[in-house]
Amino acid sequence: MSNQLEKIKELIELRAQARLGGGEKAIEKQHAKGKYTARERIAQLLDEGSFEEMDMFVQHRCTNFGQDKKHFLGDGVVTGCGTINGRLVYVFAQDFTVFGGSLSETMAQKICKVMDMAMKMGAPIIGINDSGGARIQEGINALAGYAEIFQRNIMASGVVPQISGIFGPCAGGAVYSPALTDFTLMTEGTSYMFLTGPAVVKTVTGEDVTQENLGGASVHASKSGVTHFTAATGEEGLALIRKLLGFIPQNNLEEPPLVKCTDPIDRLEDSLNEIIPDNPNKPYDMYEVIGAIIDNGEFLEVQREYAKNIIIGFAHMNGQSVGIVANQPNYLAGVLDCNASRKAARFVRFCDAFNLPLVTLVDVPGFLPGTGQEYNAVILHGAKLLYAYGEATVPKVTVTLRKSYGGSHIVMSCKQLRGDINYAWPTAEIAVMGSAGAVAVLYAKEAKTHENPTEFLAEKEAEYTKLFANPYNAAKYGYIDDVIEPRNTRFRVIRALQQLQTKKQTNPAKKHGNIPL
Ligand code: HXC
Repeated sequence: MSNQLEKIKELIELRAQARLGGGEKAIEKQHAKGKYTARERIAQLLDEGSFEEMDMFVQHRCTNFGQDKKHFLGDGVVTGCGTINGRLVYVFAQDFTVFGGSLSETMAQKICKVMDMAMKMGAPIIGINDSGGARIQEGINALAGYAEIFQRNIMASGVVPQISGIFGPCAGGAVYSPALTDFTLMTEGTSYMFLTGPAVVKTVTGEDVTQENLGGASVHASKSGVTHFTAATGEEGLALIRKLLGFIPQNNLEEPPLVKCTDPIDRLEDSLNEIIPDNPNKPYDMYEVIGAIIDNGEFLEVQREYAKNIIIGFAHMNGQSVGIVANQPNYLAGVLDCNASRKAARFVRFCDAFNLPLVTLVDVPGFLPGTGQEYNAVILHGAKLLYAYGEATVPKVTVTLRKSYGGSHIVMSCKQLRGDINYAWPTAEIAVMGSAGAVAVLYAKEAKTHENPTEFLAEKEAEYTKLFANPYNAAKYGYIDDVIEPRNTRFRVIRALQQLQTKKQTNPAKKHGNIPL
């Protein structure tokens, strides 16, 4: 064999060795836990045959605790680029078969390299997490590596989409990289995220808690809102990431991809003409409205289990990607509270950062009152949503279906927050407050001296309702651009979006605003 062929053979052998990560035994162990390896995950995530691996021959440089005798090619993370539906993405997948996927200095350098490449190329970054945290043998160098990654997450925020898949452990400070990214997905039963694990919790607070109850997928989907999506399996999770990217542009300077629309844009949805119950205190399901107006009823919901009183997610309208924000009268009457405000605010800012028009469907009785909310700073959380809508310069189309009272009317993308096109259904009630509350304040003294206060207040309430609980009062002042027939909502919103396609609006030059965090 010639010298050259010998060297090629060596290369092929080294590649095969690198592809085994921590070795066959470790791979078997990973499979036995119901988890895929980093390379298997990348293969499922990317278009077939599109993966270009980088830094396959990187090795750690640590000599502490006998580490100089343990080396694995690639060192704990598989990195590179590939395509998803033909569009370039950069990816890193922590390899649990090598030192439990724990982060070494060199591993951090590999991750930072693909993040830098993604920024240069203007392409999304997808991180797949499955790691025991900082590589303990490396100490402070591993910590520095985390900080390098976090800094890049921060710089990439609002420039290229960043998505984190949590497919195994993600604990300690390591959780902050996913938290800094745009979307986090967790697999059920095989992933967890927490700052301090059950053992430390027990020592510090005396609380007994399992990993699953402390930071499993369902906890972060429903209680903390840390994860935006959950998936039953790794395959399902990776497919969801592919789907999500289909709604999002490659970077902040590009438009979201346009897809072919097979759903007639002038489709009349008669059911919407009868969806609002006669009794204003009776709920209806906002999902039915969303499903009726978007293309083919296909809605990719974000944070489905968290703060269910507000619905957020992606859809297409005439093939154009939009972000939908909608109050849900079916849950807590669609009231705005701390969590709903935070949830919607972050989504509105994501859409604005990545050029996705916002379609807002309003049916909101107000902000939730009480000490629980005030002590948890509902003032600041509500202000986040207000700020997010007010600073957003993407096209904003708002449809008020029923209630829209007081502060919550303003917050939900009203005209004065630079709402571009604001429609209302004939059933809309746009007023400073609900009739019963208003009358109780206005006629409190008179009611006391009246011979039949109940009847008197009911009369006044009917008067107030007639005067204010309608869309025409707001339309009279131009605060509502048109009152539309509910069944025609899809067509009117699509026409509004078409009109707004060339919208140009900028905010004053500044270093950055001071959103009430
Ligand atoms: C070095 C690690 C490691 C780590 C796991 N391993 N975590 N090596 N540094 N942080 C190694 C194990 O020694 C083992 O090596 C292999 O990875 C697989 O781990 P197992 O324990 O066999 O796997 P499993 O039973 O599934 O348990 C996974 C685990 C556990 C729950 C993650 O390994 C664990 O508790 N690890 C330590 C987690 C931790 O305390 N991290 C904190 C580090 S400090 P062998 O050779 O036996 O196969 C930190 C601060 C970050 O992260 C701050 C960032 C800002």
